[in-house]
Order: sequence, then C-alpha cells, then structure tokens
Amino acid sequence: MTDRLTIRRPDDWHLHFRDGAVMREVVPYTARQFARAIVMPNLTPPVTTTVLGAAYRDRILAAVPEGVSFTPLMTCYLTDSTDADDLARGAAEGVFTAAKMYPANATTNSAAGVSNIENLYPVLARMEAEDIVLCIHGEVTDHNVDVFDREKEFIERHLRAIVASFPKLRVVFEHITTSDAVDFVMEAGPQVAATITPQHLHINRNAMLVGGIQPHNYCLPVAKRETHRLALRAAATGGSGKFFLGTDSAPHLRSAKESACGCAGIFGAPTALESYVTVFDEEGALDRFEGFASLHGPAFYKLPVNEDKVTLERAEFPVPPVLHVTGEEIVPWHGGQTLEWKFLG
Ligand code: NCD
Ligand code: ZN
Repeated sequence: MTDRLTIRRPDDWHLHFRDGAVMREVVPYTARQFARAIVMPNLTPPVTTTVLGAAYRDRILAAVPEGVSFTPLMTCYLTDSTDADDLARGAAEGVFTAAKMYPANATTNSAAGVSNIENLYPVLARMEAEDIVLCIHGEVTDHNVDVFDREKEFIERHLRAIVASFPKLRVVFEHITTSDAVDFVMEAGPQVAATITPQHLHINRNAMLVGGIQPHNYCLPVAKRETHRLALRAAATGGSGKFFLGTDSAPHLRSAKESACGCAGIFGAPTALESYVTVFDEEGALDRFEGFASLHGPAFYKLPVNEDKVTLERAEFPVPPVLHVTGEEIVPWHGGQTLEWKFLG
C-alpha cells in the first residue's frame, strides 16, 4: 500500500479569492498547497479590463505569506461590451491568462455576464486568433430549464456551436458535473478540456437534500445524480489529459450559507489536495494523481510544470468544523470530518 505520495507541486485551475480582507485571509490556504491558480474575476464590480486585472493581481500578491512562492493567473470577465483590444493587450502583457464567460445570472456575482452568447462571437474570434483560453461556466439560465439539466442543455444550445465555430479556440469547460459533459469533452478535439472539483467527485445531490437541507454541500453547478458522480470519478482518475484539477473554492461566510437564501459555493481550499487524493486512493489510481493535479493543466495552458514537489501521507486529518475569516465563521469543505490523507508540504 502506498502510504506516501510525492508529486510535482499542483496548480488550481479554477478558484475564487474574493477581495479585501476576506481575500487576504483565504490566499494563504491556496498558496500553501498550490504554485499557481486561475483566479476567477467575479468580484463586485467584476474584473473586466486589463487595468482592473493588474490591480487585483497586485492585491493578491501582497497577501501571499513571506517566503511562499505563489503566482495568481488572472482571468478577464467577459460581458456584452468586452473590448477585444484591451483583452488582447492584457493577454500579451501577461496580465490575463484566460477570459471567463458567465452566462448572465448563472451564479454568484454574474449579473454582468453575457446575455447573448452569439453577440460575443467577435470577441471569441479574436481570442482564437490570439490563442487566449476561454473558461466557461456552462449552464443555461433559462427559467424553464430544470436546474439539474442546465449543464446538459448548455452543451446542446451553446457549447457545440462555440467549439464548431472556433475550432482552434482553447476552451475549458469548468467544474463539470455530468456524464454528458464528460462525453462531450472526450469526443471534442484536444483544444477542449475540463476542470473537476473535489465536491463533485465526493457527493451526489442527496448530500444536499436528504436528512434536512445541507447548505454547505450547495454550489453551482449543483451536484447531480450518482451516475454522474461516477462518470466524473472515472474521468478524473482515468488518465486523460483533458481533465484537470480546479477546486472552485468559493468562500462564503457561514451566515451567508446558513440562510433562507443561502449562497452557492464551497470553500474547498483548506482541504483541497487531501480531498482529491482520497478519491484517487479509493479508485486505485494514486499513480494518476500527479497527472490530474500537476501535469495536464500546464500542458493545456502551455505553461511549464512546477519544479518543486509536495508530499501527502496516509494519516488521519481531522478537519476543523469551522475556520475563521475576518473574525467570522466559515465552514471548510469536509468540515468536521476526518480524512485519511494529510498534506505535509
Ligand atoms: C461561485 C462563487 O461563489 O463565486 N459559486 C459556486 O457555487 N461555485 C461561482 C461559480 O463558480 O459558479
Ligand atoms: Zn467558480
């Protein structure tokens, strides 16, 4: 039995840091485990320009603890009025690593998202020409579509057309939750990949709805049926370079989660690698963990792999039921549970 696993330091290819005091307190959780992270731009107001992206990057860098090496990879929030010249300049200057498309109102702080995806096609054409990665929150927002069907419907209504219209555009289908998404990504060309969160590998929708409503298991896209979870586990642990790590760590204070209208988002950063490695262990795929966590993402993003290493050990890791951020309670992913893997550093 493998009791210690040493791999190249991983990166987190989808993450929310927020801003201000909360950001300053959550950055260290990610910087402790990961070398880089793709930072989501859904602030209020969103990060829509190169100037805003550079300033946000500097605020994050100022929050990285002394002696820790961590690089935030910034994303530009696409809107109905994105300036393609500014985006291209931001990418050329190294401010932006990718651009993020949220259908308007699909999730937290996405009101300024894209209201008509076809109107964005000129920007997507420019991104294809400049080889800028497109990250997609793939859910339709049509009120007539059941929340559990919104990802599948997005593939049929929009994603197939985007991929067919821009065959060279690199697309990350983010935080996928369905076997439909797995199949779509597998069948698409090498320019299409996907991130998978720890929560969607661990839980199905029962964890949110059975035995009383469980707000700390609620995120978007919402967890689906067990068949989908099993398809995601097979994809993550199967060795394909099209799937890589993206926690979607999305901190919300406990008071905002345990509410009559609780926020969507799971704070996964404090237990990220322990959570993922547990899945690979359960699937008998520890030898494939480094690919998923540390190799497939850089290959897709055309970035070098990290040179330093991290070690995980098979040992009891009691996860605190609550942590504190800005003096307020926040519940981490796996809060109150005991995991069987520990991150040593
Ligand atoms: C994210 C957030 O809170 O910003 N929430 C979530 O449930 N994942 C937004 C997102 O990625 O959808
Ligand atoms: Zn997210």
